[in-house]
Amino acid sequence: MKYSPWSKDAALVVLATLREEKGPVLMALQALQNEFGYVHAEAVGLVANFFNKSRADVHGVLTFYHDLRTTPATDNQISICVAEACQAVGSRQLEKDVKIKFGAEVHDGYCFGNCALGPCAMVNGAIVGRATLDKIAKART
Ligand code: FES
Repeated sequence: MKYSPWSKDAALVVLATLREEKGPVLMALQALQNEFGYVHAEAVGLVANFFNKSRADVHGVLTFYHDLRTTPATDNQISICVAEACQAVGSRQLEKDVKIKFGAEVHDGYCFGNCALGPCAMVNGAIVGRATLDKIAKART
């Protein structure tokens, strides 16, 4: 997945698309992450000023949601759903196996809305249902 390099001007363009939204902080942080691959440290103040919120409001949202990253994304982002339905069909073991095979780039996820096809993984933004090591390896390429 290719991301734009962080710039304040580009971030303001992203935020301008959300100007009319109500309760836009989470949407703004998601949009910035989609554009740059992560939420840059400067984005907290930028979002706060743009939407007339406190830095604490923005920081609270940023640190509450596990899917929001504050460091640049690596080439392959792998999340394994560890919510209840996927745990019931082996996602914890899959998570351990994936961590051993692919290293530190594996993150916990909390329901990708694909519970009927668990265990579920997300690889570079794409959902992998009934995930296995082979399916995840294929999705990385
Ligand atoms: S519980 Fe895993 S996708 Fe919903």
